[in-house]
Amino acid sequence: MIAIASDHGGYALKQTLVEYLAARGVQAEDLGCGGEPVDYPDYAEKLCRAVLAGQYERGILVCGTGIGMSIAANKIHGIRAALCADCYSAEMARQHNDANVLCLGGRTLGSELAKKIVDTYLDTPFSHGEHHCQRIAKIKDLEE
Ligand code: RB5
Repeated sequence: MIAIASDHGGYALKQTLVEYLAARGVQAEDLGCGGEPVDYPDYAEKLCRAVLAGQYERGILVCGTGIGMSIAANKIHGIRAALCADCYSAEMARQHNDANVLCLGGRTLGSELAKKIVDTYLDTPFSHGEHHCQRIAKIKDLEE
């Protein structure tokens, strides 16, 4: 099970992705917003805390550019949020960075590209390579 959330800037893309994920048979819970003006850090926090609590395997956050969501999400210890605008970055975000949150820009990405990025993010496993694990451990150390 994954979670998805957005602010008003990412709402339209979030709705498209909610439908897309359902059609793909991916269990995804929509944590809001409902399209009303909201503050993106509130939704980043809601989703990230739920991911860290183990309620969801991973999360997708959408705002206008994806920038605000990624800045906010990466403030939360244990979250590795990757802002992706292409499929290669989404693949590397999983393979090398074990990103547990994907951030997308609702006003910067076309919906078909966004769907492909989501597919790549969801379908790519972490490599568990020694060097990558070591680097992620160093990121954890930065949180101390
Ligand atoms: C909201 O207008 C917009 O600032 C927000 O969606 C996001 O792009 C921030 O990074």
